[in-house]
Amino acid sequence: MSERMKQKKLSTRHLLGIRDITREDIELIFSQADEFKEVLSRPIKKVPSLRDITVANLFFENSTRTRLSFELAEKRLSADVVNFSASTSSVKKGETLVDTVNNILAMKVDMVVMRHPAPGAALFLADHIGAAIINAGDGTHEHPTQALLDAYSIRERLGAVKGKKVVIVGDILHSRVALSNIHCLRKLGAEVMVCGPKALIPKHIKSLGAEVSHNLEEALRWADVANMLRIQLERQGAGVPYFPSLREYTMQFGLDASLLNRLGKDLLIMHPGPINRGVEITSEVADGPHSIILDQVENGVAVRMAAIYLLAQHLNRQA
Ligand code: NCD
Repeated sequence: MSERMKQKKLSTRHLLGIRDITREDIELIFSQADEFKEVLSRPIKKVPSLRDITVANLFFENSTRTRLSFELAEKRLSADVVNFSASTSSVKKGETLVDTVNNILAMKVDMVVMRHPAPGAALFLADHIGAAIINAGDGTHEHPTQALLDAYSIRERLGAVKGKKVVIVGDILHSRVALSNIHCLRKLGAEVMVCGPKALIPKHIKSLGAEVSHNLEEALRWADVANMLRIQLERQGAGVPYFPSLREYTMQFGLDASLLNRLGKDLLIMHPGPINRGVEITSEVADGPHSIILDQVENGVAVRMAAIYLLAQHLNRQA
């Protein structure tokens, strides 16, 4: 056991991105998540650990599963929870991010979970306010808890992440899930490949330690795990399209049962959701025996509990 595991402390006060945390931090979150998974299997799925803290969930961008998962994680830890979503708030009246957040903090909030369309929004917040910040997705930048729950789910199914081959398929250019996953998997010693149309693979990606493929079948033959991402049409904007049509995308990069059967091996299939059924993955594959998509959702609660619990150890609790 490493020194940090013994100390049970993260090296950071905030969870802004996987790039900023260490392998030891990730392993500490995983071992804490193991304990919380056990709690979640009990009839009473709740611990009193964070009875004295208040968490604000600030969602400036649409979200279903991430918002619910965080809220459930906070409630399972007995934290007080306030929810805020941009569509019903004064943000629509022109209030700045810092003003909005300062108002919420004046209500004595200890931790902020924030999703925001601007890359760097979580870092900006961490620089301006005293609460612990968890980034729940900042534009096309990072989505650290998604990467943690993805790697945790691989570890659970395959026994380890180190040495495993993971291909991330789809819109890598616009995906915070892809970037956080690459950082997380590389830190844990996995081999990573990204696969998609040339226009959707950022040029610098090899410098992060990921291989590149434009041929799905070849990439899947190489892989132990395939993480299928959604095409982020809402981020692609107007102008020159990134590929001719969704139908063409599906023909080249969609995963269906006939391709999976042709591979004839135990490939693990993942998806962060929301799924565009019939585009990047067919229903048959998404709901089939290779898929661990619902395990990811389940593990999300335990992993988020772990991250919140460990970050709370750094807080100066108020009397
Ligand atoms: C992802 C996101 O919002 O970044 N979803 C999620 O958090 N479960 C991926 C996506 O939107 O495609």
